[in-house]
Amino acid sequence: MNDTSGLPAAGTVAPPSWSATAPGKAILFGEHAVVYGRPAIAVPVTRLQATASIVAAEAGSGVWLATPDLPGPAGSESGQPYPMRQAPDDDPLRVAVYLALASFWVLPEPAAGREPDIRVTVTSSIPVARGLGSGAAVATAVVRAIACFCGKDPPTDQVSRLVFEVDRLHHGTPSGIDNAVIAFEQPIYFVRGVEITRLAVGRPFELVIADTGVASSTRRVVGYVRQRWQESPQRHEQLFDRIGEIARRARSAIQRGDVGTTGRLMDENHEQLKNLGVSSPELDRLVGAAQAAGALGAKLSGAGWGGNMVALVEPDTAGRVAGALRESGATQVIVTEVS
Ligand code: PMV
Repeated sequence: MNDTSGLPAAGTVAPPSWSATAPGKAILFGEHAVVYGRPAIAVPVTRLQATASIVAAEAGSGVWLATPDLPGPAGSESGQPYPMRQAPDDDPLRVAVYLALASFWVLPEPAAGREPDIRVTVTSSIPVARGLGSGAAVATAVVRAIACFCGKDPPTDQVSRLVFEVDRLHHGTPSGIDNAVIAFEQPIYFVRGVEITRLAVGRPFELVIADTGVASSTRRVVGYVRQRWQESPQRHEQLFDRIGEIARRARSAIQRGDVGTTGRLMDENHEQLKNLGVSSPELDRLVGAAQAAGALGAKLSGAGWGGNMVALVEPDTAGRVAGALRESGATQVIVTEVS
């Protein structure tokens, strides 16, 4: 968090300002099964960041929201600032600001319904609807910036809980893994409803993350899996068990720095996600291209049907795998280290 109040630029009186950031994320193991109580593993992707900046505004103006590089709420002109009061009730940005103010803002006077006079601007380099945690990262940055504006430094699990509430708008029934890994900014081993554990990485490893260019709604894919699970519970419980077992084995492989086993487990996890019906031709093509180019393992990451895939690579094969992914149609490729 960055509080620059009291630091006006030379010769001008800048309005006080506050800002905070949050990273993107990638799920390495266990998506979907995690909604049904199995373990999952996720890592922060610090190369991608959401930033929330707050500046003090004219007295009586209330809270204004602006998302210059993100879609605004339905009906608003993209990028145009809008008053929080007029945003739809389910606008995630409005909900994030509102929940954070309700938790951290002490009214300067006991006037019901009063808002602070601020402008909240959110920017993000995390692609939207691509399984990289854009929604949770934006909400985390907003919650942190509002806390900073209110002079508070809340514990990470409080931030994570507030973001979970916002994520319910995007996802319907989120497991809580996105808000946890983004708020804690560390690799985590996650079981729904159980305390979050930091995953110690025995040997740092590199990931190549590639975007299919296809937007995918997490809510839709999670809804599809739920419907299939209701139709054939036994088959799906077995699939979730297999995915959970892969995540458990991956935890020990990562802890002991065994990247070969970790990679093979990613391949296995991708096969199970295909069985679950959440892959897509584009995802399968990128996963196949990464494997053929020498990745230790590859799988889709996030809800599926589009979005991103992730490949585990040795540092000297990262360039070759990234090139193969671009040639196979990836619209964005990033290389990131996990440690
Ligand atoms: O699409 P993402 O990156 O938000 O990932 C969703 C992960 C799921 O396991 C499919 C859903 C969840 O809430 O855990």
